[in-house]
Amino acid sequence: MFPSGFYRDENDELNVQGIKISDLTNRFGTPLFIYDTGLMKERYEEFLDTVKNVNGNIHYAVKANDSLNIIKFFGKLGSGADIVSIGEFEKCVAAGISPNKMIFSGVGKNKDEIEIALRNNILQFNIESEEELNDIYNIASKLKLTANICLRVNPDIAPDTHKKISTGEKETKFGIDIDDVARLYKRLYELDYINPVGLGVHIGSQIFDFSFFEKAYLDLKNIADDLKKNGYKVPTLDLGGGIGINYNSNKKPNFITYKKIISDIFLKSDYQLSFEPGRSLIAEAGVLITKVIRNKKNKGKNFVIVDAAMNNLIRPTLYDAYHKIELVKDKIGEEIVVDIVGPICETGDFIALNRKLIEVKSDDLLTIRTAGAYASVMKSNYNSRVDAVEILIHDGKSYKIKQTDTIQNTILKEKMVDFNF
Ligand SMILES: Cc1ncc(COP(=O)(O)O)c(C=O)c1O
Repeated sequence: MFPSGFYRDENDELNVQGIKISDLTNRFGTPLFIYDTGLMKERYEEFLDTVKNVNGNIHYAVKANDSLNIIKFFGKLGSGADIVSIGEFEKCVAAGISPNKMIFSGVGKNKDEIEIALRNNILQFNIESEEELNDIYNIASKLKLTANICLRVNPDIAPDTHKKISTGEKETKFGIDIDDVARLYKRLYELDYINPVGLGVHIGSQIFDFSFFEKAYLDLKNIADDLKKNGYKVPTLDLGGGIGINYNSNKKPNFITYKKIISDIFLKSDYQLSFEPGRSLIAEAGVLITKVIRNKKNKGKNFVIVDAAMNNLIRPTLYDAYHKIELVKDKIGEEIVVDIVGPICETGDFIALNRKLIEVKSDDLLTIRTAGAYASVMKSNYNSRVDAVEILIHDGKSYKIKQTDTIQNTILKEKMVDFNF
C-alpha cells in the first residue's frame, strides 16, 4: 500500500500510487495535471463522516473540477452534484449522475436551461431572486411540470476570504435578501407547479473562520423554524460549500470543527441537510507539473520561466493565491528568491512571486501543489496555447482523461472568410 496523495520515495522523488512523477512526464509531457483517486476517496469519506450524523447528503460542486472522470468518481462514491449550468448538467449525466441527485444553483439560469432541467426532473432549483421564480413558474406551468424550489438566502455575512470568492454579503449578486425570504417562501405556496423544498445558503469559498458558517446556519435555521411554526413545510436546508483548505501545508481541511458546528446546530432537528463541497474534496488531490524553460536575471531579480502559465492556472493572478512549489526530484543547493512565471505576454502571468526556491536549471521539473480545484477548469487558450494534458491515477495505473487539441486542430475549428479585395 502506498500513502494517498503525492509523496517522496527513498530517492526524494515525488511519486503517486507507486509511480514516479518523472515517468509520467516522460510519457505525457508537460504541463501536466495529475489527479490521485486515493486522496479523492479519502477526502470524500471524511466529508461523509462529517455530515452523516446530521442526516447530510453530499452534492459535489462540479464547478471546482468538471472533468468527467472526476465527477464520475465522486458519483460512484455516492455523491450527487451541485451544478450551475446546463453544460455541467450534461457532463454530470454523461458521468452517470442522475438528475434527481442534482441541485441547480446559480444566479443566471436562462429559460432554455430551466426548461431542460425541468424536463429531466432535476432534484431542485436553488433560486436567487423573485424574478427567477417568475421565470421558473411560467415555464413549469407551460410544461405542466412541477419545479422543486429552494430559496438561496443572502444572510449579509462577509466571511474572511478573498473578495472575489465571498458570496454572502448584500453587495454581491448572490442570494435573496434575508428580509424577503419568509415572504417569498410563503408565495411559493400560492403557485401551482411550484413545490417549496427548503432554504439554502453559501457564503463563499476558502473559509477558515467557521464562526461565519455558524452564524449563517443559525440565521437559516431561525427562518426555517419560524416558517415551520407558521405551518409551512421546510424539509431541507442546503448549507453550501466553502471549507478552507491549506495551500501551504499538508494539514487536512478542518472537518472536525465543522462537524462540531453542524452537530451543535442540527443534531436535534429533523431537517434533511445538503452540502455542496468542491475545493475540500478535490483541491489537494491534484498537482500541476511544469518544466523549467530557462532562468533569467534582470537587475538582480531572478525569474524562473516555466512552461505552465496563467492559462493553465489563473488562481495566483486572479485571487493572489498561494500554491506550494517543489522540485519533483529534490536536490541540495542554494535557495534564492525568484518569481516563477509563465511564457504568456502579461505581467500578470505568474505562478509565484518572491518565492524561495533551490536554484533550478532548464528542464528541471516543478510540482505546483494543490491544483485540483478551480485550476484546469478555469483554463483558457490565451496566446494560442493548447491545453495541458490531464491524467488520473487509479489503482496504480495512469489514465489520460482528456484528449487535448493540437494547434492544428484548433486552427481547423476556425472558419476562414474569403476577403475579396
Ligand atoms: C453555490 C455554491 N455551492 C458550492 C460551492 C463550492 O464551494 P467550495 O469549493 O469552496 O467548497 C460554490 C463555490 O463557490 C458555490 O458557488
